[in-house]
Amino acid sequence: MSDALEAVRYENGQLQYLDQRLLPAEIRYERARTCDDIVAAIATLAVRGAPCIGVFAAYGIAVLRVVERDDRAFAAAAARVRSARPTAVNLAWAVDRVLAAPDMEREAIAIHEEQRSIDAAIGSNGVPLFGKGARVLTHCNTGPIATAGYGSALGVLIAAQRAGLAPHAIVDETRPLLQGARLTYLECQRAGIDATLQVDGAAAIAMARGRVDAVIVGADRIARNGDTANKIGTYALAILAAHHAIPFYVAAPRSTFDFTIASGAEIPIEERDAAEVRSFAGRAVAPEDARVYNPAFDVTPGHLVAAFITEYGLLRPPYLESIATLAGRPAWSALRNAEELRA
Ligand code: MRU
Repeated sequence: MSDALEAVRYENGQLQYLDQRLLPAEIRYERARTCDDIVAAIATLAVRGAPCIGVFAAYGIAVLRVVERDDRAFAAAAARVRSARPTAVNLAWAVDRVLAAPDMEREAIAIHEEQRSIDAAIGSNGVPLFGKGARVLTHCNTGPIATAGYGSALGVLIAAQRAGLAPHAIVDETRPLLQGARLTYLECQRAGIDATLQVDGAAAIAMARGRVDAVIVGADRIARNGDTANKIGTYALAILAAHHAIPFYVAAPRSTFDFTIASGAEIPIEERDAAEVRSFAGRAVAPEDARVYNPAFDVTPGHLVAAFITEYGLLRPPYLESIATLAGRPAWSALRNAEELRA
């Protein structure tokens, strides 16, 4: 994992992020100093991926607390960061956790450290699901730069690669912003994972022709019944996987589960600018006045998910029960401290 890119850096009170919009062409870090910087980085997807957004926002709140002495102005700034994107629940979760802590900087660092250990646990919990040389289709980007750690869904494939299982990643390009083509393929290369890139529309024939053994994706928000919001196109993949009797897995940390909502109908779905669909890299790919529907996420019904891979282990159906059990588990930090005490 030494070749992994680092999405977020924090040192001596300075917050930097990798501008993921420039990948794979350029690796450039920018500094986030103000509320506008933090909100813009999240809203424009320079910083993206549900857990990574949470880690970045956590540091962002700590930075803002230092520069913004006025309590009301600070609260307004924190509220803006908290709502910079609506779907990934990790964002609000991380902001609330830092705001409630007596030492905000320490809490942000703890959230980041925990993310690494959570990702490592997700990786090792997911590896036994895959045989040697498994051909695994994945969508969007869920690698180290999407979590500010080791990755969730792609983290499982990276862990399988490190375990000598030589998985083959089938990478959906992921229209319209090409997180698969630009980011996942790059992260596969850096992790030494053999990969094939395909357009999103190729998934059906790839499955029909026996080229896919399993599907693994990440998540932005999971309801109590297992309904899962993830990058647009995920729901279509889940239906295709069910049709072809291919297991469909979701890898996500506990912080992506929203225990307050009963079903995916309650998940707010971000709709993004029409320009993302009408043009690409500054070039028109549709008439400039084309009417556009551009939801950034869709919701996969829980009954299409074979298992959730979490840091606490696998969750299997019925999800109303297994997710309720997850809700009652002790905080990851407490669990780790207890393990360290036992060791
Ligand atoms: O719009 P993005 O690129 O932030 O969407 C990201 C995804 O949909 C990921 O699958 C999800 O956040 C999980 S990242 C480990």
